[in-house]
Amino acid sequence: MSFPPIREELRGLEPYGAPQLDVPVRLNTNENPYGPSEACADDIAAAVRAAALTLNRYPDREHVALRTALAAYLSRDTPHGVSVEQVWAANGSNEVMLQLLQAFGGPGRTAMSFAPTYSMYPEYARDTSTAWVQGRRAEDFGLDLDAAREAVERERPSVVLLPSPNNPTGTALPPEAVGLLCKAAGDGLVVVDEAYGEFRREGVPSAVELLPAHRNLVVTRTMSKAFAAAGLRLGYLAADPAICDAIRVVRLPYHLSAVTQATALAALEHAPELLGKVDELRAGRDRTVDWLRAQGLTVAESDANFALFGTFADRHAVWQGLLDRGVLIREVGPDGWLRVSIGTPEEMQAFEDATSAVMEEMS
Ligand SMILES: Cc1ncc(COP(=O)(O)O)c(C=O)c1O
Repeated sequence: MSFPPIREELRGLEPYGAPQLDVPVRLNTNENPYGPSEACADDIAAAVRAAALTLNRYPDREHVALRTALAAYLSRDTPHGVSVEQVWAANGSNEVMLQLLQAFGGPGRTAMSFAPTYSMYPEYARDTSTAWVQGRRAEDFGLDLDAAREAVERERPSVVLLPSPNNPTGTALPPEAVGLLCKAAGDGLVVVDEAYGEFRREGVPSAVELLPAHRNLVVTRTMSKAFAAAGLRLGYLAADPAICDAIRVVRLPYHLSAVTQATALAALEHAPELLGKVDELRAGRDRTVDWLRAQGLTVAESDANFALFGTFADRHAVWQGLLDRGVLIREVGPDGWLRVSIGTPEEMQAFEDATSAVMEEMS
């Protein structure tokens, strides 16, 4: 046996991760380009200092204060409100979803999504020994509802993972789709991953509204994107309290550090400021989509803070050409497509200049 004696199915695999390169314009991981203000950083520092004085003790395993604040935040998106018993948080929504698969997936069970979809999902399935099945999205990256319902009824997955807005396409799901798939899934969970939920366009509702109608619906969110706190590592979900209880069985003891809880709470108190650039970023997204289309490119409709565009005979050459000009985007999605995150106006100008130069060079 070769060393180290890693599980057979993991042997030779590369770890997941976008390149972390030190370049002037980084538009590859859908972060918010605007950092917290000095005042916000001071409040976080004060909260962390207070937490530091208690570091000899384990943190609140139930992170009640944080869950209460997150429930209040989510309640803005639904007339039904969200209670603290419905909320669960972990180190990034990645960890929330891994915990979901630990509790609801596993040997003999199946998780399912519809491609193109978030590339971490098959990894959660692999790591929890859950079978992985992938249906397909329609040409416009929306869901063909009849086909999706049939696929769910046929595969009987324990967990259906639906990003909305979808990564890497930006496509939001209509509430009818979520309702239909919750019914089709029967006893299985339907996880609507709203990592980019706050960027959705006017009139596009959050699946949080649908929670009272479907016991098997889970909505996940993160503070990494609109909330401008990717470095914090804080993701959360809203679901039936029985689902949160099931996660308690698999979570590690004290999984959310006192420092994380204090930082997240202080950041939530600055929600209006941290979310203050969302409108500007949505407008920047719409401008970028228009600009790319004006260059003759195809661009997927986006409700997120990124745009998927193409198609290129050699997308790697385009990606490399941009990188050579100091602009890092993401080579992801179906063949021929590239994804750009929305940055500051200056960063988007640099992206446009570099894209024009690369397209000129290639024509
Ligand atoms: C669709 C989607 N879900 C979840 C995540 C994970 O985010 P985090 O673990 O930072 O909360 C990402 C990150 O890019 C994402 O694109």
